[in-house]
Amino acid sequence: MGMPLVEVRDVWKVYELGGARVLALRGVNLDVGEREFLAVVGPSGSGKSTLLHLIGGLDRPTRGSIRVGGVEVSSLRSDEELSRYRREYVGFVFQFFHLIPRLTALENVELPLVARGVDPRERRRRAMEALRIVGLEHRARHRPAELSGGEQQRVAIARAVVAEPRLLLADEPTGNLDSANARLIMGLFRRLIDELGVTVIMATHNLELLGYCDRAVRLVDGAVAGVYGRGELAKLAGG
Ligand SMILES: Nc1ncnc2c1ncn2[C@@H]1O[C@H](COP(=O)(O)OP(=O)(O)O)[C@@H](O)[C@H]1O
Ligand SMILES: [Mg+2]
Repeated sequence: MGMPLVEVRDVWKVYELGGARVLALRGVNLDVGEREFLAVVGPSGSGKSTLLHLIGGLDRPTRGSIRVGGVEVSSLRSDEELSRYRREYVGFVFQFFHLIPRLTALENVELPLVARGVDPRERRRRAMEALRIVGLEHRARHRPAELSGGEQQRVAIARAVVAEPRLLLADEPTGNLDSANARLIMGLFRRLIDELGVTVIMATHNLELLGYCDRAVRLVDGAVAGVYGRGELAKLAGG
């Protein structure tokens, strides 16, 4: 691993739910390198989404430290500070694509730049460039309903990277796709790492995709139960 972009230190997350306490994460430690493609695997309920939410500044840890590119995310107190951090550092991709139905692919991809006050001409240029990277320039004027599931996810990925985040967080990004499209998305993540220099952290329970990743961490009951390097990923995929 090169320089770590993400440093997670003894992170705990406790949800209080009607008097009951759910320990979603218990003392997670993890470094993620620049330009690394890391998979987070583990059974349903093991804390994968919680970990991504905390790294992405969507929520705060109960205890512990998370640093991203030198920013101490866990000490950002106000919602405004957290949203500034997200704007500057993070792109999100989810299982359900969350595109806006009445907007074209191009307009969907432009949205994060609207929020950043980029002028319309520059916005259009950068959104077209992001669509080019995901191979969908020719679908720029289509609305989500006129696109396949795989194409919709590629538009969502273009939207996630259009503002040039250093970190791309993908939570079950292939959960709604067939295996051919899932592989295509994996190839695309690799290209984003090469062309844009992003770091990708992907939560998945599709072990067949691990061959595309550099490393995998396995969570069980909110704790790291194993870390698997390139040579071991095939083993993990096999069982
Ligand atoms: N907002 C929440 N409130 C209460 N419990 C939650 C919340 N989000 C997640 N949990 C619980 O935390 C644990 C980890 O959930 P999650 O991170 O979604 O796991 P995974 O993504 O691996 O399926 C689960 O027991 C889940 O029910
Ligand atoms: Mg999840």
